[in-house]
Amino acid sequence: MAECTFVILGATGDLAKRKLFPAIYKLIKDKKIKKFAIIGAANSNSSAEKILENSKKFIKQYNSKIWESLKKSTYYQQLNFYNTQDYPKLKKIIEDVEKKHKLYGNKLFYLATLPEHFKKITELLSKNKIVKKHINKKECSDCKHPWSRIVYEKPFGHNLKSAQKINKYILKLFHEKQIYRIDHYLGKELVSNITLVRFTNKIFEPLWNNKNIDSVQIILSEKLGIDSRGKFYDKYGALKDVVQNHMLQMLAVTTMEPPKKYTAKEIRDAKSNLLEQVKIDNVILGQYQEYTKEKDINLKSKTETFAALKLFINNKRWKNVPFYLKTGKALDKKEASIHLKFKMVKCILSKSCPTDSNYLTIKITPEEGFFLELNAKLPGVKDKITTVKMDFCHPCTFGPNSPGAYEMLLLDVINGDQSIFVRSDEIELSWKIIDQIDKNKLNLYKYKKGSKGPKEIELLDPNKKIIWRA
Ligand code: BG6
Repeated sequence: MAECTFVILGATGDLAKRKLFPAIYKLIKDKKIKKFAIIGAANSNSSAEKILENSKKFIKQYNSKIWESLKKSTYYQQLNFYNTQDYPKLKKIIEDVEKKHKLYGNKLFYLATLPEHFKKITELLSKNKIVKKHINKKECSDCKHPWSRIVYEKPFGHNLKSAQKINKYILKLFHEKQIYRIDHYLGKELVSNITLVRFTNKIFEPLWNNKNIDSVQIILSEKLGIDSRGKFYDKYGALKDVVQNHMLQMLAVTTMEPPKKYTAKEIRDAKSNLLEQVKIDNVILGQYQEYTKEKDINLKSKTETFAALKLFINNKRWKNVPFYLKTGKALDKKEASIHLKFKMVKCILSKSCPTDSNYLTIKITPEEGFFLELNAKLPGVKDKITTVKMDFCHPCTFGPNSPGAYEMLLLDVINGDQSIFVRSDEIELSWKIIDQIDKNKLNLYKYKKGSKGPKEIELLDPNKKIIWRA
């Protein structure tokens, strides 16, 4: 069991409220951290009580004893990210809290802010010696010395240039080993499962290539609109909000070459090599009809709330296999899933040809599991087949309370494990892919809230071969 001081910059924001405090609460409840303190910092005039109270309704498995211990160990410091005079105050409160709680000095800084603040906050944390650069690699990776690790929320920049700038700057101040770039999809149980299922079962790897796979769909569809995040969303849109990060990371773990070992370096090398080969073939963008009437949205906004992409991966394994990505806000349902469609077999039946393709579906959220669709004999008829499913239902096997993504991620930062965090080169390669898209040259198709997206999605594939699975 580890000990750590969490310093959350942007502590009054949505992410801290919905995800970070509930994740820390769960880690305490599950006894994954022994000694801890939390210091929230943000621009507003707030308090520890207020920020925790706002988070209370997002806590699962509430227990008053655990909640009280969280309250006793949480502090708040008002901090204008750009005001140099506020940082010594932050430093002082961290020192006082560490002393009071007899903490050893391990510190996790979480920048739960917009990326435009990353550079300045990092600069001032470093200048004020609040986060120090580790002298050598060992210092960051064993626990004999107190460590300082700094976590950057996504999106990391808004294009290749800005991401390169941030990377260059923070790497001057800190060691890559101290830097954790978050993509919370990598912390999801079923996304982590992809690599292990692929590479620990003999049956999958021989089939995982263009000889056997016809096409792949990656879907991240959402029922909710943009909620109260208009200011952020209108600047970013679907491509930068989820395609550059969550969807390309799902693509990378599904398609990377086998890493030589299951280590952070090898996994990230494999993903980075893969991302280098991705080429965009076609893009369809959409916007839901009432979007421009939402709070904080410009009436003439051309921001996409829907994106569908057709991609290819230019390597031996995946040559000519189309990858279809689809995401959108205000669609008919919440679902994140990956669907691998296998090629058809030559049909030998006399009555029911052609037979269906096999599908391997990876359900990430809200349903969790792997489902394999096979053809099987229809009872009582000699040569008729029907589709049957082989299920690995995750909650049925392991119970409903697997750790959430942010718990996994925070615990990995505490343990110094970077395998499910995104390295600087992966971030830049993903932006390079998104930067290929010139939105000014694309139509923006309207779609109804609660629908499957714009009907023009059919233009994505002129051969009309794609049948969307969600
Ligand atoms: C976030 C995006 O990174 O991911 C949101 O900023 C999106 O717009 C969310 O709603 C989706 O994550 P999840 O875990 O709810 O599927």
